[in-house]
Amino acid sequence: MDTSPNSYSRKMHNSYEDEEERMHFLRIVSAFKYYRPHSLQRVKKTETYFMSLPGHHQKLLSKYREQLQEIKRCIENNDHIIKLIIKDVTHIFENVSPTTAQTESTPNPRPVMADQEKVQATIKQLVRDWSEEGAQERLSCYQPIIDEILQQFPPDFCVPSEVQVLVPGAGLGRLAYEIARRGYTCQGNEFSLFMLFASHFVLNKCRGTNTYQVHPWVHQYMNNLKPEHQTHAVLFPDVNPSDLPENAQFSMAAGDFLEVYTEDNHWDCVATCFFIDCANNVVQFIETIYKILKPGGVWINLGPLLYHFSDIPMEDSIEPSYEAVREVIMGLGFRMEREDTHVKTRYAQNTNSMLQYEYNSVYFVCRKPKANSSSDLSNHINGSESNGSQEQEN
Ligand SMILES: C[S@@+](CC[C@H](N)C(=O)[O-])C[C@H]1O[C@@H](n2cnc3c(N)ncnc32)[C@H](O)[C@@H]1O
Repeated sequence: MDTSPNSYSRKMHNSYEDEEERMHFLRIVSAFKYYRPHSLQRVKKTETYFMSLPGHHQKLLSKYREQLQEIKRCIENNDHIIKLIIKDVTHIFENVSPTTAQTESTPNPRPVMADQEKVQATIKQLVRDWSEEGAQERLSCYQPIIDEILQQFPPDFCVPSEVQVLVPGAGLGRLAYEIARRGYTCQGNEFSLFMLFASHFVLNKCRGTNTYQVHPWVHQYMNNLKPEHQTHAVLFPDVNPSDLPENAQFSMAAGDFLEVYTEDNHWDCVATCFFIDCANNVVQFIETIYKILKPGGVWINLGPLLYHFSDIPMEDSIEPSYEAVREVIMGLGFRMEREDTHVKTRYAQNTNSMLQYEYNSVYFVCRKPKANSSSDLSNHINGSESNGSQEQEN
């Protein structure tokens, strides 16, 4: 597994999967390329209807007409950033040759509408992870995890670079970056090419602070109090991504968490933020986390249970409540050390919007026991809950 700073490693697959992956790669590149026409088409539809309105209605809405022009300008600006994001993507994977991932000569695969939402979500994620405006969200979502790591592995009492931290579902990589910035050896893992392309751009291409801007809410046509709330520009990155200690051990590994991490007893800490509900089968995620943690290692989790595959056509999904998930955690042998079920958190939220989403997220810290006691063993066999929890409300 690669651990050099800011590098992207990927597991090799057999040739059938390679061809499938190549097509997937091209599809995501196409989705980014299709952003501009798709987004402008949406404005055009409104403009066409606007022009069909009675003249006096159009006159009354003259400012709104100007707003539509402004929206088109913002889309062009976003497209400028998108072009930078996909500029060198053929080179981002260390073990995939650019020729096998050639994007120019191959006809673009048919655009998939759902992918456009993912492009838009990626732009919003830039705000959460890499802007000053995302600071409040990061404080409630990432800071408790960072503080816990500092408490579990105090830099004055250990060698932080010898502490191996894994962040599965790392998104645009800010949490993993912050952990590495504090001296720990940290690897972010992510399987979405939307996220991987964008994090590669931020982590490896952006230098200096606030050098770029996006209009993350330009596709939010509803619940705007003022027109400028829709077209608002957000600067990024709020920190210089290359500002890491000289010997920082920071990497991003591409691939499915369940496929990439097969080595038992490897990690001192697994930190998951808004991740465990991304599984078809959440038990598989928890079981994998248990296996890959060293005995005595800790799992720190924060997030809701917005099961991503729930009600998605052709996708399998189970949606156990937190109480049931907790039984799985204890049943596998974890010891609960800290738990808080009402952590107010937001996710890529437009704070100006008239619609606000807030989660009562679950935060917990649990430990894989150093040595399996006989009761732990019987739990594995019977699947029953351990009584060894030392529950503590934050
Ligand atoms: C809701 S986002 C959270 C991102 C980030 N942790 C945050 O808090 O902003 C979940 C992320 O996990 C990624 N993900 C989902 N399932 C995954 C898997 N099996 N392996 C790797 N990454 C996965 C998704 O692509 C997505 O970027």
